[in-house]
Amino acid sequence: METAGNSIPFGYTPVWAEKDKYQVKSSANLEQRPIRMGLIGLGGVALGKHVPAIHRLRETGIAVEIVAGAEIDDGIREKCERLHGLSCYRDFREMLATEELDAVEVLTDPGESRLQALTEVVDRGLHVLVEKPFLFLGVERLDESIARAREIVSRAHDKGLVVITGFVKHFSPPYMVAKQLIEAGAIGELSLVAIKMCQGWSRHILLEGQACHVLHIALWLAGPIAGVHAFGINRFAEPSYPYDNIVVNVEFDSGAIGTFYFNSSAPSLKPWERIEVFGERKWLAIEDGFSVSLHDTEEGPSKVWAPVMPHTLFFDEEFGGFAGEISALVEAVREGKQPPVTGKDGVDALILASMVHSSIRERRYVSWAEVVESADKWAKERV
Ligand SMILES: NC(=O)c1ccc[n+]([C@@H]2O[C@H](COP(=O)([O-])OP(=O)(O)OC[C@H]3O[C@@H](n4cnc5c(N)ncnc54)[C@H](O)[C@@H]3O)[C@@H](O)[C@H]2O)c1
Repeated sequence: METAGNSIPFGYTPVWAEKDKYQVKSSANLEQRPIRMGLIGLGGVALGKHVPAIHRLRETGIAVEIVAGAEIDDGIREKCERLHGLSCYRDFREMLATEELDAVEVLTDPGESRLQALTEVVDRGLHVLVEKPFLFLGVERLDESIARAREIVSRAHDKGLVVITGFVKHFSPPYMVAKQLIEAGAIGELSLVAIKMCQGWSRHILLEGQACHVLHIALWLAGPIAGVHAFGINRFAEPSYPYDNIVVNVEFDSGAIGTFYFNSSAPSLKPWERIEVFGERKWLAIEDGFSVSLHDTEEGPSKVWAPVMPHTLFFDEEFGGFAGEISALVEAVREGKQPPVTGKDGVDALILASMVHSSIRERRYVSWAEVVESADKWAKERV
């Protein structure tokens, strides 16, 4: 591993640099009993990202297989059967009752169908990878979304199940490099975190659906958040989501502060993203989810980590982190250990999103504790 400055790790070994993983020539690992997966929801992210990532993992010798899928859309189901040879069910309950599965990926849209699927999967004692946001029943039902998500996570925990929230950036090289650098003390004690995430899909669920990726990264890199003060406007979007531009000032438990801005009225479908983390006279930036620059001396030069391979190769499967998150699920299931990203991380991002909504609505500072209390109140009153 290369180093920057005083033996600070500044490297990442991509799978394509590990020759025996890049192209596995033997079928040795495939002798192992595969982890048997079922997929619920076979839409864009399932077929565009998760299915290719699982094929990629199998290619690299990881014993995992897709046993069946469930999808309510007849056309998609037929396509999956013909194109992928997948055994497909209309009703996910029938799939769960019929197939012998170890784990299920819940890849539906994040509302009621996800709630039903998560509940049944956990009740049946199956491990789960759920796409982000963990659960989103609507802006006006955030207390309920948080309370129900917490119940599911707690029931899964009691049953000893692995739960991963699909915060895919956690498994993507630039974010991993930044985390390594921060943990190794490359920028010292953190003081300021600045995050931009702007994209152009005006109907998007801006906070819970898109910015949740970087809300998680903020919590991962800089730790728990005490409170926020936010502003939001809806200037151009359809009224399906209350805001298309949001700014958030953040206070971390550590005493560090942050400022985030998100928008869904940028000119592109591509999320324009920049994350800057400052310490004492040192700072680093993760640029557009691609490279990391470390500025750790007054004289310079700054150090830049960028992938040496064209990142289009295996882009989403490897560099985007999809193979990483599914491989983390397989490893956690096989070895009975906690994955790097859990169900609790999914709930935490929801709590943070809810704090931002309350702050915008009520035009005041909102603390983490009061949002948790409000979700607890919803849970108590329901009983
Ligand atoms: N991690 C990422 O980068 C990333 C990227 C895209 C989407 N996502 C997330 O993945 C989820 C799905 O997004 P998408 O773009 O694939 O949406 P999509 O609408 O293309 O796919 C969802 C599919 O689920 C199916 N479905 C709904 N209810 C069902 C049920 N009860 N049983 C079986 N199938 C059901 C729908 O028919 C649809 O085909 C969302 O939560 C989204 O935020 C994550």
